[in-house]
Amino acid sequence: MAKKKSLLDFYRMKKEGEVAAWVTAYDFPTASFAEQAGMDMILVGDSLGMVVLGYEGTIPVTMEDCISHCQAVRRGAPNTWVIGDMPFGSYQVSDEEAVRNAVRFLKEAAVDCIKLEGGVRVKSRIKAITDAGIVVMGHIGLTPQSSGQFGGYKAQGRTVESARALITDALAVQEAGAYAILVEAVPPEVTAYLTKLLTIPVYSIGAGLCDGQLLISGDMLGKFQAFTPKFVKKYANVAEVETNAFKEYIKDVKERKFPADEHVYHVLDSMEDFEKLFKEFM
Ligand code: KIV
Repeated sequence: MAKKKSLLDFYRMKKEGEVAAWVTAYDFPTASFAEQAGMDMILVGDSLGMVVLGYEGTIPVTMEDCISHCQAVRRGAPNTWVIGDMPFGSYQVSDEEAVRNAVRFLKEAAVDCIKLEGGVRVKSRIKAITDAGIVVMGHIGLTPQSSGQFGGYKAQGRTVESARALITDALAVQEAGAYAILVEAVPPEVTAYLTKLLTIPVYSIGAGLCDGQLLISGDMLGKFQAFTPKFVKKYANVAEVETNAFKEYIKDVKERKFPADEHVYHVLDSMEDFEKLFKEFM
């Protein structure tokens, strides 16, 4: 089994040009498959609201949802760097509340680090959480929790003005003490620039080549059906596999082909004795 990575490994990987591969996971089996496959890290994203809980967005996701899914992922991937995603409302009000909620992720779910969305506007939050001894990953670009302010799930940094704001955000996140930053739905040219400019690892979801790539497991496995962003590559069609398996099971049940002889527990005493027993209650 590979040794569990620490943030020193992620710094070394950036320095040596080794690209990190990571996915989201929300449950025990997916986390354990990701660990067995050799994933460098796992994000328990608040995307669980859409991918697992069936909400239209991430806003309804609670601290309790996140903690419970982080716990399942930690049990499934005890040897992988796990990132807990701070849900909307858990860090918006004050630095103190942000620290209190970040502490819960570590104490109750044993994650290795937390992630929160935003640049300049969350600088004091990142600093406060880092000062509390907690490892923080930043997240800029298309930040889903504030997609309402962008007018929807829109790529960011596509104009010079928007790229300037993005670069300012990235520098603020690094200065505040984050150990790494995730850049979402940004042109690859801007991401490449940030990767050179920043000393911390720069990871992408829909933002081109850099120090590492993230995909939402529900998207890349073909489980999430509502929509598929342009930046997703599908590596499997689990929805089709599951639906076909369910259809086959229904057919077997209706045609009395399931359960077959190998699926039942046979009696241990003689059938004569059982027939006597059955007569007693007739
Ligand atoms: O919640 C999540 O999975 C995320 C990704 C969209 C980056 O934050």
